Amino acid sequence: MTRPPRWVVIPAVAAIALAASIITASARAPQGAAPAAAGAAETATQKATREASGKAPRGPWAYSGASGYTNYLGGGVGRSPEQPIAFPHPVHVNTLKLNCVYCHFAAFKSPDPGMPAVGTCVGCHQLVAGDRPEVKKIAQFAAKKAPIPWVRVHKVPEYVHFPHMRHVNAGVTCQSCHGQVNNMPQVFQYASLNMGWCISCHVKGYSPADGMRAAGFTPDSAALAAPRRKARYDCSSCHY
Ligand code: HEC
Ligand code: HEC
Ligand code: HEC
Ligand code: HEC
Ligand code: HEC
Repeated sequence: MTRPPRWVVIPAVAAIALAASIITASARAPQGAAPAAAGAAETATQKATREASGKAPRGPWAYSGASGYTNYLGGGVGRSPEQPIAFPHPVHVNTLKLNCVYCHFAAFKSPDPGMPAVGTCVGCHQLVAGDRPEVKKIAQFAAKKAPIPWVRVHKVPEYVHFPHMRHVNAGVTCQSCHGQVNNMPQVFQYASLNMGWCISCHVKGYSPADGMRAAGFTPDSAALAAPRRKARYDCSSCHY
């Protein structure tokens, strides 16, 4: 397997250590907090959500390209369906430092990046925040042995071929196409996903420096020096 680029690798050990320290911190909170503030103490989730709010501006992609089919699921840019569980990316990514591919486990090897199994959530939430209403729902799905019916946000029409692994292995940051999901209390569609959008990047080439900026990093000298990465744009590369 190709070695994942630096921006996507966060050692699992660090994530677990962090999660453990948060678990410990919240377990200690009742004794540690001043009695008057005890009821009002901000949880890790509330803090992460407050800090992330407004940091993930809607995408700049208004160009509608060659066709008008920008509305496959309805809504287009900004589409943000309510989810069966109000899953907060900010606390899991920014605070706990979980890697995107910890949950979207197939992004490097499959056209479809994958969604986390209920077991991935249960592994932590057996121990963490089990009393919160949104977390209780996880146990309910697990008990029914039912997958969580997440509502799809991004989708291209069936006649379009979109391979995640080709992009991720080429170093295209998730945030180039999805915006700063790590700063979205509720995920929304950032880019138009229309044909003009795809082709404009393939023709102009992907800039690793822009990709790092999109992800919220200051580009390092290697990214600044790297050439744009172009891709095929003949019809058959995206349409069979
Ligand atoms: C702890 C697990 C977890 C981590 C880590 C995680 N995600 Fe997610 N992601 C989910 C879940 C669960 C959903 C479905 C619910 C939702 O939309 O919030 C989701 C939804 C999404 C969606 C919308 C999917 C659709 O239907 O179109 C995108 C895009 C996404 N994640 C990108 C990312 C990126 C980028 C990162 C890293 C910055 C990341 N995720 C990290 C669990 C995770
Ligand atoms: C690495 C451990 C870990 C994994 C894996 C994980 N979570 Fe969490 N989750 C946490 C921690 C820690 C918090 C913060 C709790 C707090 O606010 O004190 C949290 C917060 C939450 C909250 C917000 C709780 C509230 O305050 O309302 C929800 C909802 C949630 N997680 C759902 C999920 C779902 C769904 C999955 C699986 C896709 C998942 N989590 C995977 C550790 C994890
Ligand atoms: C070049 C643009 C691009 C990049 C880079 C990209 N995505 Fe996507 N993503 C898309 C498009 C387009 C779709 C809709 C694909 C479809 O309908 O088949 C999508 C769909 C998704 C979905 C929904 C899949 C589902 O089955 O519900 C998730 C989750 C997701 N992406 C996560 C990620 C993560 C995590 C990364 C980085 C590791 C990433 N994406 C990188 C463009 C991108
Ligand atoms: C931000 C830039 C960017 C966007 C947006 C983007 N791509 Fe790409 N795409 C790339 C790069 C870079 C490669 C080349 C990967 C490589 O060299 O292996 C690529 C490769 C591909 C390939 C493989 C081509 C081959 O050589 O076989 C397909 C298919 C593809 N993209 C489809 C799409 C579709 C469909 C969309 C829109 C829904 C899209 N891409 C949006 C940057 C992008
Ligand atoms: C880089 C990927 C990519 C390439 C190359 C590409 N397309 Fe597309 N095409 C898409 C995507 C994504 C859609 C769906 C979104 C949209 O309609 O804008 C689409 C939609 C279409 C549609 C449907 C439009 C509609 O309004 O229903 C047609 C027809 C089409 N493409 C023809 C072509 C032809 C002909 C070529 C070669 C000249 C081509 N495409 C090259 C990605 C691509």
